[in-house]
Amino acid sequence: MADLFGSWNSRIRISIIILFVGFCSSCCCSNSRKDSSSIHSLLRSMGLPAGLVPKQVKSYTLGENDRLEVYLDGPCMAKYENRVIFESVFSANLSYGSLIGVEGMSQEELFLWLPVKDIIVNDPSSGVILIDIGVAHKQLSLSLFEDPPDCNPQAALRNPLRKRRDFESLR
Ligand SMILES: *[C@@H]1O[C@H](CO)[C@@H](O)[C@H](O)[C@H]1NC(C)=O
Repeated sequence: MADLFGSWNSRIRISIIILFVGFCSSCCCSNSRKDSSSIHSLLRSMGLPAGLVPKQVKSYTLGENDRLEVYLDGPCMAKYENRVIFESVFSANLSYGSLIGVEGMSQEELFLWLPVKDIIVNDPSSGVILIDIGVAHKQLSLSLFEDPPDCNPQAALRNPLRKRRDFESLR
């Protein structure tokens, strides 16, 4: 009987240690790369549509100052109303209802590729999302961004923006 209790006790002790180690490794490393599945729920929990970030996300980090960095396998192109190119790493300051100071994301506008600066959802019930591309603030329907889009790497490599950049880097 005493032996039985003894082994139970040690089993419980081991389980507690395992739980504790698991808990610590999940809470102490808040700055480490997280896998892709949770980025979309993170965006939703911040009042932003999940489709702002494509399906093909590899991982992301959320830094101490709420700088969100998203990692893809390479640049790729997605289609919302207009075409958007995501760089292999794109980032922005994340706060409730906004991505401010976006880097690594450009949008096609009348045959020009313009860097996206801010993305703001002031009021989700309005159904409207604001995209600041510097020269213009675009108001688009939130529903365009509901589901994470497919992002095509070949299309991004063929785009004129990249060709021009490659050309410039050759000079
Ligand atoms: C983003 O956050 C950093 C750190 O808080 C800040 O220094 C920077 O100015 C912010 N960028 C923009 C565009 O607000």
